[in-house]
Amino acid sequence: MPNSGNKVETLRWNKDHLEMIDQRLLPVEFEYVSCDSAASVAESIRTMVVRGAPAIGVAAAYGVALEARRMRHAARLAFNDAMNSGFELLATSRPTAVNLFWALERMKHLWQSFGEASFEAIASRLLDEAHTMLEEDILINRAMGAYGAALLPDGARVLTHCNAGALATAGHGTALGVFRSAIEAGKRISVIADETRPFLQGARLTAWEMVQEKIPVTLITDNMSGHLMRRGEIDAVVVGTDRVAANGDVANKIGTYMVAVLAHRHGIPFYVACPLSTIDLSIPSGDGIPIEERDPDEVKGYRDCRWAPEGVSIRNPAFDVTPAELVTGLITEKGIVGNDVLKAGGLAEWVLQHS
Ligand code: MRU
Repeated sequence: MPNSGNKVETLRWNKDHLEMIDQRLLPVEFEYVSCDSAASVAESIRTMVVRGAPAIGVAAAYGVALEARRMRHAARLAFNDAMNSGFELLATSRPTAVNLFWALERMKHLWQSFGEASFEAIASRLLDEAHTMLEEDILINRAMGAYGAALLPDGARVLTHCNAGALATAGHGTALGVFRSAIEAGKRISVIADETRPFLQGARLTAWEMVQEKIPVTLITDNMSGHLMRRGEIDAVVVGTDRVAANGDVANKIGTYMVAVLAHRHGIPFYVACPLSTIDLSIPSGDGIPIEERDPDEVKGYRDCRWAPEGVSIRNPAFDVTPAELVTGLITEKGIVGNDVLKAGGLAEWVLQHS
């Protein structure tokens, strides 16, 4: 399995198993977790070893391939049962990122096209497909990066929320891919990463990625962006997304909506880097996007550190929805979907024309 020149290998195939950077430990420790079944990949997605919509999709594809490989010497009934429960486990690992369901659908369609082929052949073909999806994701991110880079002026100070970087994808990243591509194009871009409470993807992951590559980055807490915007210290916002509804409403990490409202208030462009696989035309508006509620412990503290009292009532919605009207543009691998298209309800038609 080739490494496509990625500096950060979020997921990699090693002989007979999948390895993924354990993102729960970054930036303090850098370790890979090994997976050899659909169940172990589903558990890694659920517990956020791997996270970020495109990375979850690619990991799930490998989970299907691993299950076929694990069961390739079994009888037909056992093979089919294991595959079906593997799909089920993966599909219930996290609800919001539509890339997960997109990837599972693609793998299931392929599996069902094999007829009476040997399980060995099926396992090998599914693994090839997972490799292809990994490679495709990097190419898509590079294409998005090129379109997005053109939107950023030289010297731009760009805020991002959560981590939509190489760690959230197979490589290069979506929002952070835009920054990488802008820098490759010779633009002087500096990044403002907000912490992204409660799981701290901004502080732990975005800051880590940027520091690794010596891309100028300043870390702020989530409640500082309004102050910086008011003082004219932020020129643009670029974030990723887990699911975009047919009307252009954008689900992304909790806190994105606050940033979008602030950006609108201050006339700052708010872009969403969004591969076409993240657009879910089956959901008419953001109201229909399933929002994951995660373990209250994530709000009480992080790892061994606790700051809230036992017994306190807690909410932990992991995503929010930003209405399309606040989105300046969706940066896709096929070009930019402008606010005018979103406002006119033209996203579905745009996607059909560009798919
Ligand atoms: O809960 P996470 O860390 O999986 O949330 C990730 C995000 O919200 C990202 O912005 C989104 O998945 C896009 S990643 C390219």
